[in-house]
Amino acid sequence: MRLPEREECLRMLAQMQMPDHILAHSELVCRVALLLTDGLLAAGLSLNRPLVDASALLHDITKPRSFKTGENHSRTGGEYLTDLGYPEVGHIVRQHVILDAYFAGDTPNEAEVVNYADKRVLHDRIVPLDDRMDYILARYAKTAEHKQWLLNVWEQTTLLEDRLFAYLTFEPAQLTDHLGRVVGPQA
Ligand SMILES: [Fe+2]
Repeated sequence: MRLPEREECLRMLAQMQMPDHILAHSELVCRVALLLTDGLLAAGLSLNRPLVDASALLHDITKPRSFKTGENHSRTGGEYLTDLGYPEVGHIVRQHVILDAYFAGDTPNEAEVVNYADKRVLHDRIVPLDDRMDYILARYAKTAEHKQWLLNVWEQTTLLEDRLFAYLTFEPAQLTDHLGRVVGPQA
């Protein structure tokens, strides 16, 4: 599997002229995703940490562009990274808003970790799932149908939280307290 090094990720973000606030968001999502990954690895699960690292950092790669074009940034972000020769990263980025399948395997995978991490970071702050949901509903629920769809996704995300934290030694509300323990991508 070919993965971009941290330096290459930063170069890609710079090339996309990522605004500081999305960069701060992406870096925090990445730290959360690595914290969760480390906990899952410690519990004996098999996850590719460098894959989580790159995918979380790059998950909003086409978002700045989407403000102008209206494109679906999870889909185009996935395509962008696949076209650059990183299909595994693209596969995860494409699923950061909604997973192709919830609970596809017996144990959590990298896509689930990145998807959940993004749901715990509102701008550059760690928040409970419900706060992020309130924000998403207020900002994105354009119709009653769409609102119902978002609520269904939310139900799945709550189950995803239970699934991930079943392996971890701390509670969802303790995420911030544990963040300081995350080590760098090269660990
Ligand atoms: Fe996003």
